[in-house]
Amino acid sequence: MSGGLFSLWLPCAVGYRQSFRSSFIEGTHTTVPVHKTITCGELTRANAGQTVTLMGWLHRRRDHGHLIFLDLRDRWGITQVVIDPERSPEAHRVAEGVRNEFVLAVTGAVAPRPEGTVNAKLPTGEIEVHVDELVVLNPSKTPPFYINEDVPVEEPLRLRYRYLDLRRETMRDNIILRHKVVKFMRDYLDERDFVEVETPILFKSSPGGARDFLVPSRVHPGEFYALPQSPQQLKQMLMVAGFERYFQIARCFRDEDQRADRQPEFTQLDIEMSFVEQEDILQLLEGLYTAITKELTTKRLLAEPFPRMTFREAMDQYGSDKPDLRFGLKLQDLSDIFAATEFSVFSDALSAGGAIKGLLAPGLGGSTRKEIDTLTALARTHGARGLVSLSVQDDGALRGAAAKFITDDQVRSLIERLQAVPGDLLLIVADKGDKALEALGQLRLEIGRRLQLADPEVLGLAWVLDMPAFEVLDDGTVAAKHHQFTSPKDEDLDFLESDPMRVRAKQYDLVCNGFEVAGGSIRIYRRDVQERIFKLLGMTPDDVEERFGFMLEAFDYGTPPHGGIAAGIDRWIGLLRDTANIRDVIAFPKNQSAQDLMAGAPSTVPQSQLDELHIRTVLPTDS
Ligand code: AMO
Repeated sequence: MSGGLFSLWLPCAVGYRQSFRSSFIEGTHTTVPVHKTITCGELTRANAGQTVTLMGWLHRRRDHGHLIFLDLRDRWGITQVVIDPERSPEAHRVAEGVRNEFVLAVTGAVAPRPEGTVNAKLPTGEIEVHVDELVVLNPSKTPPFYINEDVPVEEPLRLRYRYLDLRRETMRDNIILRHKVVKFMRDYLDERDFVEVETPILFKSSPGGARDFLVPSRVHPGEFYALPQSPQQLKQMLMVAGFERYFQIARCFRDEDQRADRQPEFTQLDIEMSFVEQEDILQLLEGLYTAITKELTTKRLLAEPFPRMTFREAMDQYGSDKPDLRFGLKLQDLSDIFAATEFSVFSDALSAGGAIKGLLAPGLGGSTRKEIDTLTALARTHGARGLVSLSVQDDGALRGAAAKFITDDQVRSLIERLQAVPGDLLLIVADKGDKALEALGQLRLEIGRRLQLADPEVLGLAWVLDMPAFEVLDDGTVAAKHHQFTSPKDEDLDFLESDPMRVRAKQYDLVCNGFEVAGGSIRIYRRDVQERIFKLLGMTPDDVEERFGFMLEAFDYGTPPHGGIAAGIDRWIGLLRDTANIRDVIAFPKNQSAQDLMAGAPSTVPQSQLDELHIRTVLPTDS
């Protein structure tokens, strides 16, 4: 332990000087300790009798008149220190003036707590430190919210004072677990001969799923870099370069609408491998996620090995390509039951080529009008035109606005198909096939929430395979469902031009509890196939040359078969820490409007900076 000589006063806010002077500056503390000898989280009975110096923040202060108790906190924990005026009158005088979040240094003797005062909830709860010296290293203003209590605080305030928010136990644990998970990932891949390679942040714009963030070039007026939406092309270049096993803890940037599980900059565990097939990548990631769950958390896996289902099965059974498998309530197809119906809502959907899909809400037959209206509104926000709800009566009859259109035979079949019993609620959507499924998929999640069917301690990790390679966007154009470098399944390659919607991709998603936690694919590695895909996606040869010319060129130089995957680290940590809000597992996130409320970003910049970049801003008239 060395005693430093830096002045107490330099860092103090003016307002505190007086109170310090009167409380302890005239005391004997001319030296201030520089280092702690032990953290606030590790003293036990075994240390009794030792002299220690602790440093940290004042978590809580209890003045018992004679004795003053201080809970001192650092990253590792909390230790109770006791100040007895008879042992150290000077320290007692100082302790009278300290407030929560002051930074303190104490030196004293470790002693077992008196009989009856042991705190079994605290790892250091068996001991306390009897203080000989107490020094205020820095005072603190009163924080804008409680740091020592786990009470809800408005998120904007937390984000504005993020450095204080991060002092709170839950946030600290989130960030520490994140560190452990990332270290685990690095070690796991290093042991398997992967090389971590950093790829550029200033790169080339390549339109993908989201908008790019652009960075103007000063030296090349009118030209822009784009921040990478992912290192996709670069990791493929590393395969051409012969690295065979690459990974990176990669920051990705996407200018898209924010949601609780999305950030404009987020982090991926990005992986690419050569001379592999899909199974190798599934095994690698499954091994990693299983090991992380078992070694770093107390969560349970729903099933091992992870269940696998095709995209079609996921949609048909759960109405989602990222199903929450922690509970059943599978969707059912009811189209055959109503094939001859006269109920126009059903018959119109069927004759338009749609389907009738149903979901059982067990025990919710007594739902109020308002509760049903909420479910109907939810179905509508997810694309359904309406929702038919029917409750099963004690005599097996159905009640609900549509009941009069349903024949006795249909009632019997319906009850059998959905395995309903009296008291249950049946929810039915008639629409285009996937639309009905998606709406019911959301209702399924809502019913699961209402009935608390999903065990929060379980991680329902599963693979969704055989995705369609392409989708038709609202404007009628064809887009790659994953990305344009994903290989079609060999057996579907022939339909690429004739029936692209039939083509399935060598794509795989890892899903967990209703989130997509990773996604990847086996890549196209032949120039001719890649060119056919670009053509299908409506790119002219000039577009292709401008955007991806370097890739096609590389493919002419001996490209190995390769594939990979990227896992969203933020979402995964969120799942491990029971938060659907990924901002909670990111030290300095952006808010829902993509702003950093602490630093105030984005912000305007001086005109001189814009001039240097050859940029003139034209603001929308209403701003
Ligand atoms: P993809 O776009 O599916 O694939 O991204 C991979 C994973 O990253 C996470 N993720 C996000 N997390 C937080 N905020 C976001 N805005 C966000 N967007 C995506 C998800 C997702 O599963 N280059 C490909 C991977 C590959 O083919 O190897 C890619 O980026 O958990």
